[in-house]
Amino acid sequence: MKGIILAGGKATRLRPLTSITSKQLLPVYNKPMIYYPLMTLLQAGIKDILIIISPEYAGHFLQLLGSGKKFGTKFTYEIQEEPKGLADAFIIGEDFIDNDSVAMILGDNIFTDNLSADIKSFKSGGRIFAIEVPDPERYGVVDFDQSGKALSIEEKPKHPKSNYCVTGLYVYDNSVVEIAKNLKPSDRGEIEITDINKFYLEKGELDVKILHNDWFDAGTFDSLLDASNLVAKNQHLWEEFGS
Ligand code: DAU
Repeated sequence: MKGIILAGGKATRLRPLTSITSKQLLPVYNKPMIYYPLMTLLQAGIKDILIIISPEYAGHFLQLLGSGKKFGTKFTYEIQEEPKGLADAFIIGEDFIDNDSVAMILGDNIFTDNLSADIKSFKSGGRIFAIEVPDPERYGVVDFDQSGKALSIEEKPKHPKSNYCVTGLYVYDNSVVEIAKNLKPSDRGEIEITDINKFYLEKGELDVKILHNDWFDAGTFDSLLDASNLVAKNQHLWEEFGS
């Protein structure tokens, strides 16, 4: 399985912090934000990782992460010129993914669950990870029937059907590349990962795992602060990672 970290975008919500570097390089307690999603992939034994970045601060990522050797992995870099949507990762990553399956993680998502077993056991279709949140309208939202089977997925619905938000880790089989290439941009002008998930759901091939521990999308000042505090209190989760 290949890995992709999507770490582009303009992060205007975090200005002025992001006027001098990329959001995914900002500190979360004692490490740059991107270390946390990177660790989620490394824990799952993924040894070949594509990092997608925006042109502005590409050099900063190279300076921090280099070839990947110090993490026991290999990094490939691609530039995303414009933030066209999360699903663009699979179009940019087509050659890199080649004939493999892929785990894509957002560079601003911090998971405290160890997802190694759930990533390693993936066979086919799609697998996503949901968690109960108080403000589901900010996210992709999945709802379930009584037996826990996923019924629908909607991107930032005004009237969410559940409190379960879809987090930024997505595991797909190789057909994701063709699915992404056939997507039409949404009303916000992006090709949506939610449409990929809907595609797998409609085919009966989407598996939704529920997270049990904390998760952060560190894209706002408040969540950045909360994530730093949580990491400070749970250092044991990250200690194997060093500096
Ligand atoms: O964090 C989980 C949520 O991520 C999901 O629940 C939503 O379904 C999904 O659409 C996404 O929602 P966001 O509104 O948080 O996505 P955002 O546009 O903020 O992008 C997430 C990260 O991906 C952000 O760090 C920037 C990066 N990005 C985004 C786009 C659109 C890119 O690198 N390239 C892009 O084209």
